[in-house]
Amino acid sequence: MNLHHMEIFKAVASEKDVPSQNVAVCHMMILEDISKLPAVDSSGISLSSLDESHLALVNQTWKFGKDEVAVRMIRNMIANFPSCCVVDAERKPVSWILTYATCAMGMLYTLPEHRGKGYAKVLISTLAKRLHAQGYPVYCFIEEENLVSYRLFKNQGFTEDPSYREVWSVINNF
Ligand SMILES: CC(C)(COP(=O)(O)OP(=O)(O)OC[C@H]1O[C@@H](n2cnc3c(N)ncnc32)[C@H](O)[C@@H]1OP(=O)(O)O)[C@@H](O)C(=O)NCCC(=O)NCCS
Repeated sequence: MNLHHMEIFKAVASEKDVPSQNVAVCHMMILEDISKLPAVDSSGISLSSLDESHLALVNQTWKFGKDEVAVRMIRNMIANFPSCCVVDAERKPVSWILTYATCAMGMLYTLPEHRGKGYAKVLISTLAKRLHAQGYPVYCFIEEENLVSYRLFKNQGFTEDPSYREVWSVINNF
């Protein structure tokens, strides 16, 4: 919805005394032109895909994870949609990115001790090229307050419609 619709939605919910809470308000960022992706240095980085054995790791670290709904969703994403991860010498993922059923890239995460090594940039670039090659749009949702990620995707050539927000809401406690 755009920002105006968000205000209308909030006003109607409050007028009707329906409890509503925004869980996340996100920018939608799109890579309109794949050639805008900067070259990344992936030398010395081992890439792989996620599998079912990594489900718990992704679920524990995802901000909106940890319940049964999230487990089902992540299992479906790992089984049926492209994912990409950086693995260490023991083949354990240390950084990863998945694709939602809507084809948006998401759940990007780097273990704290492996941050700042360029892993997220390599993963975004790799998955973006893969999705583009398969004919999918390349886009993602970034929470408004996540400035590090916002800058990260901007620097990878992603742009946004400033008037649009993706809102994840809980209505009537559902
Ligand atoms: C955001 C996140 C995925 C970045 O992972 P990373 O592997 O450390 O990222 P990279 O090393 O590829 O760095 C990418 C860029 O972000 C910058 N960056 C990374 N962490 C930063 C920080 N804490 N503060 C400022 N800049 C930062 C890097 O300097 C780099 O910038 P450059 O392109 O100018 O060199 C990681 O911090 C993370 O997992 N955060 C928690 C989960 C999250 O917010 N996920 C994103 C949801 S959309």
